[in-house]
Amino acid sequence: MNLHVVILAAGQGTRMRSALPKVLHPVAGKPMLGHVIDCARNLSPAKIHVVIGHGAERVREELDAADINWVMQSEQLGTGHAVAQALPHISAADQILVLYGDVPLLRSETLNRLSQQAGSSSLGLLTVEMADPTGYGRIVRDSEGQVQAIVEQKDASSEQLLISEGNTGIMALPGCKAADWLGSLSNDNAQGEYYLTDVVALAVSQSVAVEVAQPGDELEVMGANNRQQLSVLERAWQRKEATRLMESGVTLADPARLDVRGEVLVGRDIFMDINVVLEGRVNIGDNVHIGPNCVLKDCDIEAGTVIKAFSHLDGALVGEDCDVGPYARLRPGTVLQRTAKVGNFVETKKAEVGEGAKINHLSYVGDARVGKNANVGAGTITCNYDGVNKFMTLIGEGAFIGSNTALVAPVSVGDQATTAAGSTITGDVPAGSLGVARGRQRNIEDWKRPTRKK
Ligand code: UD1
Ligand code: CA
Repeated sequence: MNLHVVILAAGQGTRMRSALPKVLHPVAGKPMLGHVIDCARNLSPAKIHVVIGHGAERVREELDAADINWVMQSEQLGTGHAVAQALPHISAADQILVLYGDVPLLRSETLNRLSQQAGSSSLGLLTVEMADPTGYGRIVRDSEGQVQAIVEQKDASSEQLLISEGNTGIMALPGCKAADWLGSLSNDNAQGEYYLTDVVALAVSQSVAVEVAQPGDELEVMGANNRQQLSVLERAWQRKEATRLMESGVTLADPARLDVRGEVLVGRDIFMDINVVLEGRVNIGDNVHIGPNCVLKDCDIEAGTVIKAFSHLDGALVGEDCDVGPYARLRPGTVLQRTAKVGNFVETKKAEVGEGAKINHLSYVGDARVGKNANVGAGTITCNYDGVNKFMTLIGEGAFIGSNTALVAPVSVGDQATTAAGSTITGDVPAGSLGVARGRQRNIEDWKRPTRKK
């Protein structure tokens, strides 16, 4: 038996009031459909079929991958009709697992249970007990508790509306029956749609066993039809991620004020203050301290480093025991060797800063190498760009760059060399020398200030 996953994602999502197709709305920085696809991948299916319609091109463009078969449903005639579009790619011996593109918190453990319970010849349903099942299909059982059918909210009798067991929509279908069942659906119902849910009554009438499984919790099967529901899913995800980090040895000043939008690996005894945002792949070593309001994207932060408040790091590699911020901006290609210091209002890009080197205040250092223990003074600018090309600035070990130095690249300042404050350095400064490139000061005695005409 091969497993084929069919993800329904053709609907418009009118209630989102958005130009973006619903399934592309992100939870934790990733499109909802991306979460569902990743969950499906964990099951190692033979193929993942995604049924698309509204915004099809955009959805496909965003999430295309080799293991996905995109299936077009040009007219949304119902969930049963949607699954039927994928059937030509699935054989009778297979099992079909139906998922929804807007149900992103589903766990693969739950799906594995459903899939195994149903096997190759039974129908598997994922149902959930709900405090308020309004809007959901209801699971109708007979006096012995055997599932008989699913009735949609709009087709249910007042008695059926009292049923608290709701249909999640997630279902495992035996491939040997799917074509027959889906082919015989009718749209004679309140919404005029071909309901996938009607296969339950068909299975019962043919004495095909119906197996029922439940998710770990209700959030797992919750979909997002509007932005309020989207925010509930987002907060649920963030709460789980915060818990995971705390379980791994991270202290969070407030678990409700950390947002993770990617994959974060952590060591132990890390502290994160409030309003930290972690994006992409972030690796944080032991004893790292992250101050309030920092954004870290695609970064490696090694053990013992302190990132102070309001720092923004993107694509940076920060070595051990470094000191960054407050208000530092480290852009892609920044590498800080151990014990380096980058202080307030300093921007770095494609810059390797050597061990113990300091760039403490108000500087731009781009396309540069700063040697071990060098000191880059306040207001230093690497002039790395002539409008077309980028050039390198090399600063030697133990060099001292005076405040407000403009380093016009390509240029190099040798080991232990010094530049005078306020210099515009256009030529190399040899090791051990002082480069001075500024007008000499002259004083004009008894200077009369301009006066206002009467
Ligand atoms: C469906 C179930 C209902 C269940 C609920 C759970 C049916 C008939 N009803 O109802 O029992 O409680 O989900 O959320 O299945 N879609 C398509 N093509 C279509 C129609 C729908 O791709 O032609 C997609 C939609 O984009 C959506 C999903 O299928 O992601 C569910 O469709 P929707 O019409 O919202 O079904 P519900 O009325 O919510
Ligand atoms: Ca729905």
